[in-house]
Amino acid sequence: MRIILIGFGTVGKSVCELLIERKEELVKKHGFEPRVIAITDTKGAVIDEKGLDLKDVLEAKKKSSVANIPEKGIEGKSSKEVIEELDAEVVIETTPTDIESGEPAMSHIETAFKTKKHIITANKGPFAIAYPALMDLAKYNNKMLKFSAAVGGGTPMLEFGKKCLEADRITQIDGILNGTTNYILSEMDQKGISFDQALQQAKELGYAEADPKLDINGSDAAAKLVIMANFLLGKEITLKDLEIEGITNITSEDIVEAKKENKIIKLVARIGDTEKEKPCVKPIKLERTDPMAVLGALNSVKFVSEFAGEEIIIGKGAGGHETASSILRDLLDIKNNMMV
Ligand code: HSE
Repeated sequence: MRIILIGFGTVGKSVCELLIERKEELVKKHGFEPRVIAITDTKGAVIDEKGLDLKDVLEAKKKSSVANIPEKGIEGKSSKEVIEELDAEVVIETTPTDIESGEPAMSHIETAFKTKKHIITANKGPFAIAYPALMDLAKYNNKMLKFSAAVGGGTPMLEFGKKCLEADRITQIDGILNGTTNYILSEMDQKGISFDQALQQAKELGYAEADPKLDINGSDAAAKLVIMANFLLGKEITLKDLEIEGITNITSEDIVEAKKENKIIKLVARIGDTEKEKPCVKPIKLERTDPMAVLGALNSVKFVSEFAGEEIIIGKGAGGHETASSILRDLLDIKNNMMV
């Protein structure tokens, strides 16, 4: 399988590291030999249609852009041109999220479809503003659009809701869907550090978006809720249908106050299957003993369904390798579907 990798930041690099680490296992267990033929970053691309040596590219990236790699690097070559010009089965898209325009991921998805390639993306922007239209486009082009990395990092939240609850009916979803804000609120609660200190740490740990405003103003969690609403509840909504409040106004005093009541503040995303309540993202005080009230960068989602009742899935929701593992899962899914 020939792969084009768009974007070479935390997630893009982690995808390569995982492909190197899991090389033998992928062949042995899945008969799968992925070949990355191009990688792009903001300055250009590196291309080898026989397959790039990922170790070399990762090493070179430590010093400068992939575009500067001798012989194979091309300065100024855009991601769109690479997708248009190369023959490949799959595009993996890992550019930073823009919640207003959905770009550049939106154009990458469209270009992949136009040139008959499947696409995997961890980018929430395009889905937040145009989930229903994107699904139509995938169907029209008869190509797969996979996005399990966009929700829950490495934790299969979407798959759990979709596959495990297939014969049940989900009536409500409550989720802590943003690792960065959960990390900030947890550190403020547990260690008494300031909002800014905790945010700085979340950036250093690779949890935060390239633009961390998206984390703290609630947009990232909201985009994930839009994806869950469409994918799991069949609701054709976009970001504008949500009430969104982030954690920018939460002070150390609020955290202490909640603690006195034996509660803990969490940024919760909520949607029900009826129209009674508008889907929302907002800071809520949970009981400290609530199993949903996970700490650190963990995510948790409570699915309420007609027959199973309440089920909570907890796992790592942010981080390079965590997200890359979901991308790899999507890749295997595409490989298996292509064989059918
Ligand atoms: N910035 C996101 C988060 C990354 O903190 O959850 C994973 O989507």
